[in-house]
Amino acid sequence: MSRKFLVAVGSAALALTLAACGGEGAGSGGDTSDKKPSELTIGVSMPTQTSERWIADGNAVKQKLESKGYKVDLQYAGDDIPTQSQQVDQMITRGADVLVIAAIDGTALSSQLQTAADAKIPVIAYDRLIRDSKNVDFYVSFDNYKVGTAQATALLVGLGLQNKDGSKGTATGPFNVELFAGSLDDNNAHFFFNGAMDTLKPYIDNKSLVVKSGQTKIEQVATLRWQQETAQKRMEDLLTSSYNDGAKVDGVLSPYDGLSRGIITALQNAGYGGAGKKMPVVTGQDAEIASVKLINDGVQGSTIFKDTRLLAEQAAVAAEAYLQGKEPQANDVKTYDNGVKVVPSFLLPVQTVYKDDIKPVLIDSGYWSAEEVAAGQAKG
Ligand code: GAL
Repeated sequence: MSRKFLVAVGSAALALTLAACGGEGAGSGGDTSDKKPSELTIGVSMPTQTSERWIADGNAVKQKLESKGYKVDLQYAGDDIPTQSQQVDQMITRGADVLVIAAIDGTALSSQLQTAADAKIPVIAYDRLIRDSKNVDFYVSFDNYKVGTAQATALLVGLGLQNKDGSKGTATGPFNVELFAGSLDDNNAHFFFNGAMDTLKPYIDNKSLVVKSGQTKIEQVATLRWQQETAQKRMEDLLTSSYNDGAKVDGVLSPYDGLSRGIITALQNAGYGGAGKKMPVVTGQDAEIASVKLINDGVQGSTIFKDTRLLAEQAAVAAEAYLQGKEPQANDVKTYDNGVKVVPSFLLPVQTVYKDDIKPVLIDSGYWSAEEVAAGQAKG
């Protein structure tokens, strides 16, 4: 019997149990407005602890909700889809009153979400949209298309094709660039790539940018599970297959700092950043501390800062609204169609960080300390 089927049966049985006993698991039948925060639990399901951003996200959501008096059931799924399904199932059995989920695969949790809906447990998608299900109530994220345009712009600025103020730069190219995208099962990966390609296309068309490998489709450049090693391997393969004629890579569009570090390692292993071989302009996202240090050291070109403190705050605000029997306030009700419905969203702004921005944007706001930036490591 397939695992998927077993999960489905398990969820159905669970829903029946919940309905029959009306107890523990969301026994309130959805109306929690007369309960004290200490009687209410928010299940928080995060994808992985291998990326430091999700650790920061998980801690921030937990801390914000606990400071309001709620109980929090925080779980990490080790980037394993069955584990995340199981953890969400458990959160429901253990009596979660609201679920906050950053999905590994945006389409893989349908049966859990149906169980949650049957038990009237609101579901908030955290940063990554959950697709193909009507049982997603709210979405908190950033302007993900804009992340992509900002990454592409940072590449153009780094190469000198554009100035920071948007005016035309003095460089003309042609520059050799390679493109990377995130995991195809993550809705965000498509938004980032679309935003980036819309920005880069005119430069590719007029040949000031040349993708020497010819790989420009998201399916060709995607990175399953956003794995650093996978990106490193692909960069190594690209160097062997497309740059063995003496040509040099001038820039790399990378959608996430973890991938950027893999790409940079591959480039360094091939002599880039050493004598006579300039490190290409490499972009990123998430302002992970190891990458912020690389930017400070002039190795990585930029990152996109998404303040996870604000995202966690929005998730907590939305969760609390549901627990008080209200609807959370959306600021976007048209962008995020998950294939079944448009999910009301609260989207936060993003900010490009070049070396000069580290102090004003990241250090002065308390996101990272100067010591952490110098060490390239978060303090425990
Ligand atoms: C995306 C997220 C990015 C990055 C990536 C890899 O969903 O929007 O900020 O964190 O996952 O973890």
